[in-house]
Amino acid sequence: MKTLLILFGLLTVLSNHSHAEGRLFLIRPYLFSHLGTQIGIGWMYESQDQTIKTEANLYKANVPVAELKVESDNGVFFTYLPLPACGFDTDYQYTVTGLEKPISIESVPCAGTTEEPLMVSFVSDTQEYPDQAKIGYQLVSLFPSRAILHGGDVVQTGNKFDEWVDFFDALSPVGSSRTTYFAVGNHDYRYDTEVPLWNRFFRYDANESHYVAQLGNLKLFVLNTCFEDRPDLAAPEYRWIAEQLETLSKTPKSERPWVAVLFHHPPYSSGLAHNALAPRKEHLILQKYFIPLFEESGVDLVLSGHTHLYEHSFKSGIHYVTTGATGGKLGYWGGKNPYRVIAVRERSIVNFKISKKSLNWTALNFDLNVLEDVTLNRTVTE
Ligand SMILES: [Fe+2]
Repeated sequence: MKTLLILFGLLTVLSNHSHAEGRLFLIRPYLFSHLGTQIGIGWMYESQDQTIKTEANLYKANVPVAELKVESDNGVFFTYLPLPACGFDTDYQYTVTGLEKPISIESVPCAGTTEEPLMVSFVSDTQEYPDQAKIGYQLVSLFPSRAILHGGDVVQTGNKFDEWVDFFDALSPVGSSRTTYFAVGNHDYRYDTEVPLWNRFFRYDANESHYVAQLGNLKLFVLNTCFEDRPDLAAPEYRWIAEQLETLSKTPKSERPWVAVLFHHPPYSSGLAHNALAPRKEHLILQKYFIPLFEESGVDLVLSGHTHLYEHSFKSGIHYVTTGATGGKLGYWGGKNPYRVIAVRERSIVNFKISKKSLNWTALNFDLNVLEDVTLNRTVTE
């Protein structure tokens, strides 16, 4: 007992010492896409003293090349890479005060700049079991994906700060080196429809979180489909994507990249949320207004979460992939889905391999058993 007390005392002294130095991270640095235009790095120290002097530096091939401008807001420190959102050299690293050594940044190529397939991982609904979510991210770390898509419901209760801290800890196996492209989910809205913590951690408004990003030969559109939480979202989200897809459809399909749309609520699902008695009806708005637009515009892929089931549906040329919860409770059956190809009640991660002529995805459960492996091919004009 005495030894335990001494050990405890020593740990307290050590931890206070580290707090005083402000060197310990409450949230380790995470990379996020800032509305598709730049890559941001955010982090938080245990000590939320805003006067902490902190620096960030960019390295190329381990040689310092630039000091990054650090901003701080409400305890979160931010910097942005002075590099394009896609297509920069792979050999960049960064460091921020408190990191022991520089961290490599996975670069995402732009369209047509590489013949090598680009791997992108897809997770969703990290929610209330961060220990499960961490296993998911550890599994993701076993694959050489360059970027990560998150389908929303990052946390169970959007306005609980501690849940966000746990999420970033779960993300830590890959979060410092691979950029996450987030979509917002209904749980992120829970108890505050302004979603202030989204803003705090990503520096953009959840209610303005639609954007477009280029990931190699994939053009990714991200939408906010939380129409039940914020009914004023549906019209502006529709107008924005309609305009984007109209511009895109001027280019023949054989000359453009693969096109995916990522948002939280799947339009088709066998899950309970799609039961006629379920109270929320985002999927009906999607089916009525958005899907006809996607079909006309030649969208290839729609990616979602929310139902906590892995499901693949196919309708009128579009593949719908819903990934199972990474950290939320497993889903329940209860919806009718006439377009279902496969549906499995398991946690899953999905790895996409994207090249000009083919798009492959492998859905894996947490035992790394393959739930589904699909390859789409197409003819392209060189
Ligand atoms: Fe959800």
